[in-house]
Amino acid sequence: MKNIKKIACIGAGYVGGPTMAVVAQHCPHIQVTIVDLNEARIAAWNDENLDNLPVYEPGLDAVVAEARGRNLFFSTDITKAIDEADMIFISVNTPTKTYGKGKGQAADLKYIELCARQIAAVSTTDKIVVEKSTLPVRTAAALKSILNNTGNGVKFDILSNPEFLAEGTAVTDLQNPDRVLIGGEDAEAIQALVNVYANWVPADRILTTNLWSSELSKLVANAFLAQRVSSINAISELCEKTEANVDEVSHAIGMDSRIGSKFLKASVGFGGSCFQKDILNLVYIARSYGLTAVADYWEQVIIMNDHQKSRFAQKIIHTMYNTVNGKKIAFLGWAFKKDTNDTRESAAIYVADHLLDEEAEIVIYDPKVTEDQVYKDLDYLATRSPEANRRLVTVVNTPTEAILDAHAIAILTEWDEFKAYDWQAIKVQMKKPSFVFDGRKLLNSKEMRSLGFDYYAIGE
Ligand code: UDX
Ligand code: UDX
Repeated sequence: MKNIKKIACIGAGYVGGPTMAVVAQHCPHIQVTIVDLNEARIAAWNDENLDNLPVYEPGLDAVVAEARGRNLFFSTDITKAIDEADMIFISVNTPTKTYGKGKGQAADLKYIELCARQIAAVSTTDKIVVEKSTLPVRTAAALKSILNNTGNGVKFDILSNPEFLAEGTAVTDLQNPDRVLIGGEDAEAIQALVNVYANWVPADRILTTNLWSSELSKLVANAFLAQRVSSINAISELCEKTEANVDEVSHAIGMDSRIGSKFLKASVGFGGSCFQKDILNLVYIARSYGLTAVADYWEQVIIMNDHQKSRFAQKIIHTMYNTVNGKKIAFLGWAFKKDTNDTRESAAIYVADHLLDEEAEIVIYDPKVTEDQVYKDLDYLATRSPEANRRLVTVVNTPTEAILDAHAIAILTEWDEFKAYDWQAIKVQMKKPSFVFDGRKLLNSKEMRSLGFDYYAIGE
């Protein structure tokens, strides 16, 4: 039986960083090295000051403090880490393609292929290669073909081990996962990875399957989760027309144990690096097999999500007398959910984009997102010039600056601190009438109205 002594992980991002930190924490007998092309990112992971880690996750600093320098290392020396490792996790990004065939839908696998070629070039001993990144079903076949055609006699086993952690709760999800999924062909290789997780995960939560079920299950899990959000968001629009309250509907249906209460919170739309990308990918794969009805079915989840984001922006414009030109709109929150500094596909970006088309002046406060990131997100859309984005959008460090003289406040992220604000005092600072558009249904509508706000929340 292969005894794993050294692990390498390529990609020190939101997935690779926290996942490997927790592996190292629980496996002091295994040396874990996380490598990345991005020197600045590695430097940040090695920063003495744990506030400067490149990924913000509650509890991550303590895990890194415990393991870093003991058996957890961050490095840019990819070659050395690969060469020394018995097991290599691939955790690089797999963005939606922005060019060529499958543009806007298929996953771009160029980084995965680069990793495989690098592993093939460097390896002198047998390796277990683990797909940690979310990949289209059957990617392992391509990996296998690249790795097994090196002709250097090294044996490669490929495993699929998708990550189900959610950002903001990554550390608790990793410490106490609902399940760990390992797909593979070689029983010994599978067992070697099972043994790593068995250091802290109960045996009955470690599932083993064939490669393709494992790859596909990750896409399907994300598609089902996103589908629940789109489903409740669809109902939120109906609630707004019928005086039903979407939170009450969620609660009522969620108590049915067959439906369950989680993932039924109506919102301005789901974001994050995974949901949209993975569904687009699922749709693309289904279409590529000629399964039009299957593809159309899942595509609707994305269409609904886009509708929800643009509907929220339209509601703001319409309510503010059909013009937001020159009006100051304070955004509370820019991250795609609370407790993370990640903004990828955040609904806030798209809502801002709609409002900027109408020449609104947006002032953004998010407790964890930097000014630089906000401008990057808006510039990336290429809807208008970078100069125009900087003219119309300001990013501030305190909620007070955002709120002062604002015509409206829009809540885009459900940060806990927003609930604790002194809304009575905020009312005094704003222009009258004082509009609040709550895209997370975070505040108490009765209280907000009794304070004199013109308060609008998703689904009510
Ligand atoms: C990514 C994918 O988005 C997700 O689908 C997958 O499940 C896991 O990997 P994440 O960790 O959030 O998730 O991505 P990101 O934060 O962008 O990190 C990827 C890292 O890989 C980056 O730091 C990048 O510099 C690095 N990288 C990328 C390499 O080191 N080598 C490469 O060839 C490409
Ligand atoms: C998701 C999956 O949950 C995780 O298992 C997978 O590994 C990666 O993708 P993540 O994107 O980090 O994780 O966060 P998640 O908590 O799933 O939230 C995704 C988006 O859906 C967020 O924008 C969130 O605000 C939104 N959401 C979630 C809702 O709008 N309502 C809900 O009830 C739940």
